Amino acid sequence: MTCASGSRKECATWLSAVVLLAACSAGCGDPDGYSPELRYPVRTDPIIVKPPTTETAVPDRPGVLPIMNMLALNAPNHPLHSMLKDGPPLDPSVLAPNDRAVLQTTMDELFGTPLVPRTAGPDAEFNLRLREELDQTDAKLATGSLLYRQHCLHCHGLAGDGRGPTAFWINPHPRDYRPGLYKFISISDPQGREMRASKEDLARTVRRGLDGTAMPAFSTLSDEELSAITAYVIHLSIRGEVELNSMKNFLTFPAGQRTWDNDKEMIQSWLPTSGDNWFSSQQGAVVTPKPYPKAYESEEGFAQSVKDGWDIFKTPGDKQGGDCLKCHTDYGRKAQFRYDAWGTMVRPADLTLGVYRGGRRPIDLYWRIHNGIAGSGMVRSPHFQPTTKDEIASGKDRLWSLVNFLQVLPYPAMREKYGIKID
Ligand code: HEC
Ligand code: HEC
Repeated sequence: MTCASGSRKECATWLSAVVLLAACSAGCGDPDGYSPELRYPVRTDPIIVKPPTTETAVPDRPGVLPIMNMLALNAPNHPLHSMLKDGPPLDPSVLAPNDRAVLQTTMDELFGTPLVPRTAGPDAEFNLRLREELDQTDAKLATGSLLYRQHCLHCHGLAGDGRGPTAFWINPHPRDYRPGLYKFISISDPQGREMRASKEDLARTVRRGLDGTAMPAFSTLSDEELSAITAYVIHLSIRGEVELNSMKNFLTFPAGQRTWDNDKEMIQSWLPTSGDNWFSSQQGAVVTPKPYPKAYESEEGFAQSVKDGWDIFKTPGDKQGGDCLKCHTDYGRKAQFRYDAWGTMVRPADLTLGVYRGGRRPIDLYWRIHNGIAGSGMVRSPHFQPTTKDEIASGKDRLWSLVNFLQVLPYPAMREKYGIKID
């Protein structure tokens, strides 16, 4: 059929098909998704080796991350210039062109593209575990990628680097998933191994958002959508970690000093390392709180536990206390900004406000104190677990006492009622 011989309507349909075909040959994928040409970029921002220990009263200015690139850090008036001496970051922008090329190709093979993401290496058995235990199926990742583009990308960035266009303007900055560290988790390893996050932890964060930060609650998403997004966050996180570790290798061992024979295999070998961390984080390490002491259910019992909690909060670590004031200066009202593991700024929470990022339920506070908050410098305190013999004999529990104290702290009338003086 030609336009000359056909009806007007047929002609219009035919023409639009030609236009669409022409547009697609220039690269069009899913009409609501990404172009097939789009690849995850190879990282260029500095890799933090040792976060600086300086503290400041004010956070970074709106529109900047503290460490944007090495060029900025080289300026003598940069607040973090001293880092160049104390533990300089690694600079991915100086990666040799050959190394960058092999990294890009191998990463594309392992992780696909934003339109067709995958998490799969050369080992079929391992790939099966990725699919079964971490939902890394192609279908789920494709759905997750689309939802991520719609809801998360402008903050968390295309590759999950926490550097989307909005990221520079909000404080705290959105999470960079690449180091595999998550703050608000319910899991902890008894042997002290570093944990990632359980799928439920990630889904909870997305469903509820993080109070007091720009991270919104996505409570209208269905469980299925949340599960696809969670799988995709894990995909980006594993991808980021493989890239991070490979890049550290390339930058630490220049050509001629390599401790491996084959670059591609070196990069591939990081996939099981990161995958294993995620597997073990799904395997039943959820912290179940010790039973809430019966004694705390009465008014006097509760009052006593709030006082005990206050005491533990103030007591220094060398006297078996919580040492909480060490960072939460003046209960957090006078705490300074410091640097976290991502090289962004964090401030020990002002605990008189009653705003908790990881959730305000008693169990959320319990998990924060029990586990610490990864990457922020708040480590898990050795003094709260296991429960001491004295505690068991007295029916008390130091961790629950701290939770009770924290729940009273923000309210002046309750502080007065329980005799807590903080001014
Ligand atoms: C408006 C910006 C914004 C948007 C949109 C956003 N986030 Fe976030 N997100 C943040 C910020 C800010 C934090 C870090 C808060 C902190 O460090 O306390 C964060 C943290 C997180 C964390 C880390 C939680 C932890 O335990 O450390 C995850 C996971 C996350 N976001 C996932 C998502 C997903 C998935 C989406 C889309 C459905 C999304 N976010 C959309 C700003 C955003
Ligand atoms: C080494 C420093 C340090 C010590 C010691 C410390 N914290 Fe923190 N704490 C922090 C930092 C930093 C944050 C902010 C983390 C964030 O928002 O990412 C924080 C946040 C918190 C939060 C808020 C969690 C949320 O969901 O927003 C609570 C509750 C808390 N700390 C309780 C305690 C208690 C109780 C102790 C003593 C047992 C303690 N902290 C000891 C550094 C510390």
